[in-house]
Amino acid sequence: MDSILVKGNGALNGVIPIAGAKNACLTLMPATLLSEEPLTLTNAPRLSDIRTMTQLLESLGAEVASLQSGQVLAMSSHAISNHTADYDIVRKMRASILVLGPMLARDGHAIVSLPGGCAIGARPVDLHLQVLEAMGAELDLRDGYVHAKAIGGRLRGAVFDFPFVSVGATENALLAATLAKGTTVLNNAAREPEIVDLARCLRKMGAQIEGEGTSTLTVQGVDRLHGATHPVVTDRIELGTYMLVPAICGGEVECLGGTLDLVGAFAEKLDQAGVSVTETARGLKVSRKNGRVKAVNVTTEPFPGFPTDLQAQMMALLCTADGTSVLEEKIFENRFMHAPELMRMGAKIDVHGGTATVTGVEKLRGAPVMATDLRASVSLILAGLAAEGETVVSRVYHLDRGYERVEEKLMACGAHIERISDRP
Ligand code: EPZ
Repeated sequence: MDSILVKGNGALNGVIPIAGAKNACLTLMPATLLSEEPLTLTNAPRLSDIRTMTQLLESLGAEVASLQSGQVLAMSSHAISNHTADYDIVRKMRASILVLGPMLARDGHAIVSLPGGCAIGARPVDLHLQVLEAMGAELDLRDGYVHAKAIGGRLRGAVFDFPFVSVGATENALLAATLAKGTTVLNNAAREPEIVDLARCLRKMGAQIEGEGTSTLTVQGVDRLHGATHPVVTDRIELGTYMLVPAICGGEVECLGGTLDLVGAFAEKLDQAGVSVTETARGLKVSRKNGRVKAVNVTTEPFPGFPTDLQAQMMALLCTADGTSVLEEKIFENRFMHAPELMRMGAKIDVHGGTATVTGVEKLRGAPVMATDLRASVSLILAGLAAEGETVVSRVYHLDRGYERVEEKLMACGAHIERISDRP
């Protein structure tokens, strides 16, 4: 397993290109199952999760050509030759559950392994199943798989009120509703930019969708969808992550492709903490306003609130802020595993349930630390960039799921960072 060595190297300055969104690409890719015509995605990120989704789609009979070193995914599924999403693939990546809706919509049946939990929480899929049942799916859970059948061979439109916001369940329902017979109304739907991107792509394929970006999605089912070409939206979580580099280390960084509408609540928090974010012709320019960052309180919420996927990275900033910050994690039940690792670097953090209280210290000290999940891994790298001395982050396979070419992007801004491969 590779590790990454980071050494504090003072202020960092430069330009960082932001890639296409992992979490948009992972819901756009299953859309190829809805049509026998080709769906091509451009601006795709080059990540291990994308390779896993490719493997899954190919196991179902889709063709996925990765062109221009992975930035273009030319996909087509003339027919779904296998309707079973295997546990071996699904257990590696929870987003695999997103093939359930499209397979049910296209062919009226599917067998998908339950994803199981992950480091940040149990992450059940009960809402995915409830909304598909409301749309006429008959579900039988046995031996760790969901055996699904559309009653009468075709899903039907339904009105469904989500009891709480779920990004994945909204995506599964939206994908399924495009080919259902009749109208589907999804209330309390997720509003994330990745869902707006999915709706735009499906509309290009001939779907009739209204309301993306609001809490109510209305879909008029059609009999078939055609092919399309669609650019993956910019990754707002990668964007927010790299916006924190000058905030934590000092200096100035321009994030190419970034726009304020993707990171509204996050940019507001940075502003409160004394970090300026300005829109340029090419993206977002970020630097500290003057001197030390100030402590702020953070509560994670569904979009447009503060994203849970930026909580760990924000905590890394607040470890050396002036004052005490309180972070409340309201989306996942166990998403503070980066805290004990940051404490190994000298951070002062008190975790009680879903609340972490961070008392800022002058400086963190480099130490060997361990990545536990995707966003925790990058928060440790951010902390290491500003710490005194060397930090070695182990288990960086977590990192490679969601961040392409991290070392390269940070080295271009003057960071002292290198990958240590333990492969003989
Ligand atoms: C998506 O996960 C993202 N993943 C996550 O990003 C992100 O943290 C999350 O949305 C919230 O924004 C992808 O898009 C691939 P949810 P998802 O359904 O869809 C509970 C990253 O780092 N829940 O909105 O799984 C769930 O346990 C990843 O890139 C149910 O109880 O998130 C969680 O507590 C991490 N039953 C809450 O709802 C369900 O059926 C929100 O989950 C579904 C969810």
